[in-house]
Amino acid sequence: MTDMTRRNFLVTLTVAGTAAALAPLGGAARADDAAPYFVNVGHAKDFPVGETKQVDYPAQIGGYAFVRRDSEKAFAALSPKCVHRGVPVNYDPATKGFECPRHHARYSATGEHLSGPGNGSLAPLQVKVDKDGVVWLQSLVAPSATG
Ligand code: FES
Repeated sequence: MTDMTRRNFLVTLTVAGTAAALAPLGGAARADDAAPYFVNVGHAKDFPVGETKQVDYPAQIGGYAFVRRDSEKAFAALSPKCVHRGVPVNYDPATKGFECPRHHARYSATGEHLSGPGNGSLAPLQVKVDKDGVVWLQSLVAPSATG
């Protein structure tokens, strides 16, 4: 094998390995190369208007996320990672806000930081509903890595 052939072989392996690592698997999709991955988190009928629901999410990002339905067609989603040290926050249905179990930072229903350590808001996540009513939530990790 010449040097050029060996280099082409290694480039081919790298491209193939990257493509395999990023290939979407069941329950997730990728619209195009620039878009994030999306994970199926349920059907719109299971998200009552005016409520926030905890949904399963890749373990690397806390294991869950929150989806809020503001109206028939308006959905919003938040990462559970506390801005202080990244501990997943809990949802409190009584206040419709979030609280971190570690040092008790509190956040509003829209993720705005209200009190406690840390600066900034809970990170918003893209959420979309397809024509069949399936709710898709942005995932920052490849579906194959979500196991
Ligand atoms: S990790 Fe959340 S308040 Fe410290």
